Amino acid sequence: MLNPKSKNIVFIGFMGVGKGTIARALIKKTKRMGLDTDDLIESMENRKIKEIFESDGEAYFRKLEKKTAKWLEKNVKNAVISTGGGFFKVANLEKIGTVVYLKSSFEGILKRLQEHENAELKLAKRPLLADLDRAQALFDERASLYEAKADII
Ligand code: S3P
Repeated sequence: MLNPKSKNIVFIGFMGVGKGTIARALIKKTKRMGLDTDDLIESMENRKIKEIFESDGEAYFRKLEKKTAKWLEKNVKNAVISTGGGFFKVANLEKIGTVVYLKSSFEGILKRLQEHENAELKLAKRPLLADLDRAQALFDERASLYEAKADII
């Protein structure tokens, strides 16, 4: 039901919801290739997301996401792709593959992050989670947008 073999499976959703975790489980099960957009951007730039935000700002990071999206559309098939929490806004998302939105409440996400053995690291590497009120506002703003972009929720 998910999709024909040639199509990618693309996980979208808020920071910390478990896109990487679920993607890794699916990669193991389906033996597909796995890619992560944040990892691709870090390799392309040879620096961490946090540093990109700090040195060049969010707008620059969003440009890198668009570039990554175009590259994925053109070059990648049969893969499981996990994405950064804001990647869903790229214009060609549906052309990359079947879009699966991992849905959770904001409280559920925080609980998941706080209970993680590397909780501090998980929070520290995400600049947009530094201020929890702002993160909650971002979550509220995005919740329905994620659903609108999803083939499967
Ligand atoms: C972002 C989410 C992060 C990362 C960047 C911006 C966002 O990825 O791409 O910090 O806009 O929600 P994760 O969803 O993997 O934390």
